[in-house]
Amino acid sequence: MKHFLDVSDYSPAEIQDILDLAIRLKREYFAGGNPPLFKGKVLGMIFQKPSLRTRVSFDMAMRHMGGDALYLSPNEIGLGKRESIADVARVMSGYVHAMMARVFDHAHVVELAKWSSVPVINGLSDYSHPCQAMADALTIIEKFGSMKGLNVVFVGDGNNVAVSLMHIAVMLGANFRIANPEGYDMPEVAKQIGATLAAQSGAKIEYLRDPHEAVKDAHVIYTDTWTSMGQEEEAAKREAVFPPYQVNAKLVSEARKDVIVMHCLPAHRNHELTDEVADGPHSVIFPQAHNRLHAQKAILARLFEVA
Ligand code: CP
Ligand code: NVA
Repeated sequence: MKHFLDVSDYSPAEIQDILDLAIRLKREYFAGGNPPLFKGKVLGMIFQKPSLRTRVSFDMAMRHMGGDALYLSPNEIGLGKRESIADVARVMSGYVHAMMARVFDHAHVVELAKWSSVPVINGLSDYSHPCQAMADALTIIEKFGSMKGLNVVFVGDGNNVAVSLMHIAVMLGANFRIANPEGYDMPEVAKQIGATLAAQSGAKIEYLRDPHEAVKDAHVIYTDTWTSMGQEEEAAKREAVFPPYQVNAKLVSEARKDVIVMHCLPAHRNHELTDEVADGPHSVIFPQAHNRLHAQKAILARLFEVA
């Protein structure tokens, strides 16, 4: 059973193939619509955390292609609480054709996939956000033509979004830098996977503390919330540590002239990203959010083996 739990589970050629398909499906959608390749198929969407983009883009991706989606809110199935994950996986497998799950603990989406007989998609865990990374890569490729040789720079917390961005960037031949405060490094396992992927493509990874040093020659500056879902009790501490990592006009002016500024959203405006930059000429945050739809159609099509 093929799942979509992390971009690093796939080869660079497979990721590129999904991105090429996303570009084709996007063109087709705007040229009059996608054919109903998902007719008769239902995606079960299990959410342990809130969502706007992931929920709506997966739902619309299914509908645009003739299928349907079922939303299960955090209050409903009580994944691992009301019922074991193994039982949820085996029950759901008889009702739906694929599952997407947004979980707190990455081990839970892995467990779901282990017991499921239909494909499971990671819709964000504490470790990674692979669907976001696919939309991010699509957005970067649309702007620069390819990821190869670009400098992709993440400024902020070494979180789930940063991990998936690093992995997809170096897989596709971009150099990756992150500037984050001490104590907010990426997990060691993510760094090890990054090193292996970078060695294969010839890309370079740098771990820095200074955001000014990091954004030099950047084609992409990416930031995300300083406090991720599930870390709310650390918010005050994080708000005190992260201000030097704010992406503001001064920081953006230190990158390449054609730099694009990205954020997975939701943004905490004037915390990690100023209004001036979010709504300024370098920002691609809304096309990036819209690309979730197209990237996810391609992921689903490959998992359903219909395109
Ligand atoms: N970027 C993203 O995953 O947004 P949601 O949390 O709104 O789904
Ligand atoms: N890092 C953020 C991403 C939200 C889409 C979080 O996990 O809350």
